[in-house]
Order: sequence, then C-alpha cells, then structure tokens
Amino acid sequence: MTTLTALAFALLPAAFAQTMHSVQVGPNGTLTYDPPFITAAAGDTVQFTFNPKNHTVTQSSFAAPCVPLAGGATSGFHFESNVSALLDTWDFTVADSTTSWFFCEQIGHCGQGMVFAINPPADPDPHSFSAFQALAKQLNGTGSASAPATATATEPPAQSYGTATATVTDGASTWTTVYTSYDGTPAPTFAPGGPVNHLIKVGIDGLSYTPSNISAAIGDTVTFEFHPKNHTVTQSSFSQPCVSLTETSKSGQVGFKSGFQFVADNATTFPTFNITINDTSPVWAYCGQVGHCQAGMVFAINAVESGPNNFAAFQAIANASGSGSASSSGTSSAPASSQTHGAAMANKPLGYTLLLSAIGAVAALL
Ligand SMILES: *[C@@H]1O[C@H](CO)[C@@H](O)[C@H](O)[C@H]1NC(C)=O
Ligand SMILES: *[C@@H]1O[C@H](CO)[C@@H](O)[C@H](O)[C@H]1NC(C)=O
Ligand SMILES: *[C@@H]1O[C@H](CO)[C@@H](O)[C@H](O)[C@H]1NC(C)=O
Ligand SMILES: *[C@@H]1O[C@H](CO)[C@@H](O)[C@H](O)[C@H]1NC(C)=O
Ligand SMILES: *[C@@H]1O[C@H](CO)[C@@H](O)[C@H](O)[C@H]1NC(C)=O
Ligand SMILES: *[C@@H]1O[C@H](CO)[C@@H](O)[C@H](O)[C@H]1NC(C)=O
Ligand SMILES: *[C@@H]1O[C@H](CO)[C@@H](O)[C@H](O)[C@H]1NC(C)=O
Ligand SMILES: *[C@@H]1O[C@H](CO)[C@@H](O)[C@H](O)[C@H]1NC(C)=O
Ligand SMILES: *[C@@H]1O[C@H](CO)[C@@H](O)[C@H](O)[C@H]1NC(C)=O
Ligand SMILES: *[C@@H]1O[C@H](CO)[C@@H](O)[C@H](O)[C@H]1NC(C)=O
Repeated sequence: MTTLTALAFALLPAAFAQTMHSVQVGPNGTLTYDPPFITAAAGDTVQFTFNPKNHTVTQSSFAAPCVPLAGGATSGFHFESNVSALLDTWDFTVADSTTSWFFCEQIGHCGQGMVFAINPPADPDPHSFSAFQALAKQLNGTGSASAPATATATEPPAQSYGTATATVTDGASTWTTVYTSYDGTPAPTFAPGGPVNHLIKVGIDGLSYTPSNISAAIGDTVTFEFHPKNHTVTQSSFSQPCVSLTETSKSGQVGFKSGFQFVADNATTFPTFNITINDTSPVWAYCGQVGHCQAGMVFAINAVESGPNNFAAFQAIANASGSGSASSSGTSSAPASSQTHGAAMANKPLGYTLLLSAIGAVAALL
C-alpha cells in the first residue's frame, strides 16, 4: 500500500468503516513498538513501519511471548539501513476483537521487552500488556537460561476486548463493576481519599454543561445543578449523542434521565439531579430540550481524550446531527457501550464524514 493510499484511508475512516492504526517498529533505534499496544475493532488495519535495524512483527501466544504462534502471522525480517528514505511497512488486518500478541524475532530483542499487543486487557488483569512484557523478559531475557523454560501462565480466555470485571469496596458499599480496557480509562478503583462529588452547572453559561467533560472514579457522585431555562441531562451513546441510550442500546441498557427541569429566570434555588459512577466506561449525555443537543449541549464522563472517541468528536457528531443527517443515521453498528474505532461513524454521508475526519484523523492514527 502506498503512502498516499494510506493517507487516503486515514482521512476517510468512516467511509470505509474501519480504522488504520500506525505502529512504529524500533523508532530511534529503540527496541520497542510505538505505541506498545492498541485497541482495534474487527476489520481495522494495523500498519507497522520498520525503522532502521532488522526487526520482525511476529504473532505469539501470551504464555510463550517469544515463540512464533503455530499458524500465526509474521512480517518476516525487515532490514532497514539507517539512511533509508522510504521505510518498509507491513499491514496486519484485525480479524476480531480478541487479544493478539506479537514480538520481534531478532535475537535478543524479545527478551529485552520488544513485544506488542492488540486489545490486551488493562492492568491489573493478569493478562495485561505489562504482564506479557514482563513474561517475555522473564523467559527470554538475560539470565533466563537458568530459569525454567516452561511458562506457568496459561492462555487467556477468548475475551471480547473492552471488558473486565472487578469488585471494589469502600466501607459498607461494594461495587461489582464491568470496566473497559480502553487505553486511558481510569482504573477500577476508588480515587485516593474515597469517593467525591462532582458539581456540574447546567445552563449557567449558555447552552452548555460547566464543566462539560470530567473524569470520575467508581463510587463518585455527580450532581447536575439546573440553572434558568428548561434543560435535561439524558444519557446517550457516543454514536448517537442526541438520542436516549434507552432507545439506542442493543443490549437493553437503561440510561439515566433527569427529565425536564424548568427553572425561572428569577430563581434563587436550583434543582439537582444526581448519578453515581458505577464503572469506568465513558458516560455520554445531552440536553433533551429541542435544539440544545444540536447546539453542542453535551456532556461526558471519562471520555478517552487520547482516542478517537473523545469529547470533541462526540460534540462534533451532536452538532452535525442538527444539519439534516440525524434522522437518517439511526443504524450505527456500534453497540452503545463499545468504543469501536470508526464504526461509530459508519453509515454517514461523506461530507459529514470529512468534517469528523478532520477532528479524528490524527487521533485515530496514534
Ligand atoms: C524519536 O526521536 C524524536 C526526535 O528526537 C522524538 O520526537 C520522538 O519522540 C522519539 N520517539 C521515540 C519513540 O522515542
Ligand atoms: C525464547 O526462549 C524460548 C525457550 O528457550 C526459545 O524457544 C525461543 O526461540 C526464544 N525466542 C527468541 C526470540 O529468542
Ligand atoms: C536480519 O536478521 C536475520 C536474523 O538474524 C538475518 O538472517 C538476516 O540476514 C538479517 N538481514 C540483514 C540484511 O542483515
Ligand atoms: C549509519 O550507520 C553507520 C554505521 O553503523 C554510521 O557510520 C553512520 O554514521 C550512520 N548514518 C546515519 C545517518 O546515522
Ligand atoms: C420544558 O420543556 C418541555 C419540552 O420542550 C416542555 O414539554 C415543558 O412544558 C417545558 N416546561 C415548562 C415549565 O415550560
Ligand atoms: C419570580 O417572578 C415571578 C413573576 O415574574 C413572581 O411571581 C415570583 O414570585 C418571583 N419569584 C421570586 C423567587 O422572586
Ligand atoms: C444530590 O446530591 C447533593 C449533594 O449530596 C444533595 O445536596 C442533593 O439534595 C441531591 N439531590 C437530589 C435530587 O437527591
Ligand atoms: C448506576 O447504577 C444505578 C443502579 O443500578 C443506576 O440507577 C444508575 O443509572 C447507574 N449510573 C450510571 C451512571 O449508569
Ligand atoms: C474538557 O474539560 C476540560 C476541563 O474543563 C476543558 O479544559 C476542555 O476544554 C474540555 N474539552 C473540550 C473538548 O471541551
Ligand atoms: C458545537 O457547537 C457549539 C455551538 O455552536 C460550539 O461552541 C462548539 O465548538 C461546537 N463543537 C464542535 C466540536 O464543533
């Protein structure tokens, strides 16, 4: 694939309902893949660019990080001179949402931690990326000759990326939570010092929530305080910002709804609506008043700012849904709770796609 074609794909992720992920192999002479792991959806392409030296990208198993997986994919060795103007690339197509593990076959590299993963569970899962890398160093690193060659770790269960469960307790309360393994989401633990309350002022500064996006830990509470006019806070999904999650969820999720909160201009007390954070998945919400969502009145908790499903992208979809494409767009294939790259923007007209691409293309490439 030429650079130009790659660029075209990168700029039009939605048109092809897939994402191109770029990974540097051995950048700056380091024995690393950058980024070391990614989350990707079925059909996405991962493009590996080989930097100077002589590396591979070879599939392995969790239990034997530095041994090629029988029947697994490999790029083969790519020798790049340090004066190459054009670096080789190798594309890997993601088949499904389960975890895939990779390493560099060059002598010594894997034992020094040169490993990579697609859709690994987040720490502290025993099959996280860092556990995989530690196992590579343990089994093939310096001094491993004397170490037992048999791994005690077992193959991870076939697991749909993006979910893990944890139980956290705080005093009398216990939460059993499903949390995403999405890079950038908070750990499934309480914040140091215990749960806190976050105050969101609704409509105090025009058609907006102030602040409009926050990070919150499990057990935290969020208080929405309604200021004059007639607003709501209603939970939605990333791909359909201005429709209640209850209506769009394919897994029967019931989103929260404050209902309309009319507040007079001369009011001196302000009604509130509270939610409790039960898990660390991103929470998306909007104002249900006619026209407000399409004017950008949206809100997010734990949006992953480093990924394509960030707050600005969410607001851009909300804004764009006012310009005619909203009514025909109700068929996104992305489940409401999954952070499927690209898929969230499927089935949208091209002009709309370009608008979003301008915002999301760079993030999607990281
Ligand atoms: C490689 O070097 C460049 C320039 O010094 C730097 O900007 C970049 O972050 C480095 N990348 C890695 C992965 O070390
Ligand atoms: C890692 O160690 C195993 C067991 O000793 C060996 O079979 C394998 O070839 C080593 N891998 C690399 C990349 O050196
Ligand atoms: C790259 O490394 C492999 C394995 O060590 C070796 O067989 C091959 O000759 C190397 N290629 C070049 C061009 O040095
Ligand atoms: C490339 O490598 C050679 C030998 O390893 C070295 O002499 C030369 O300075 C390097 N060139 C660049 C541009 O890094
Ligand atoms: C608030 O807005 C809703 C929806 O537009 C409307 O049905 C309701 O009557 C309004 N409430 C008041 C008190 O104006
Ligand atoms: C607000 O204004 C309305 C009429 O404009 C009045 O009836 C009401 O008493 C006022 N409320 C307060 C708290 O001042
Ligand atoms: C929401 O929580 C705040 C702070 O704990 C509390 O003052 C308020 O009464 C609660 N509102 C409702 C509607 O329960
Ligand atoms: C947390 O769980 C409670 C009880 O199941 C539910 O009512 C609430 O909507 C959940 N909070 C969020 C943010 O989903
Ligand atoms: C998210 O919230 C932070 C803190 O309030 C703010 O600085 C940032 O601009 C917000 N992001 C967007 C895209 O509005
Ligand atoms: C959405 O529209 C609002 C109001 O016009 C604007 O302030 C905001 O910057 C827009 N957001 C994006 C991401 O385009």
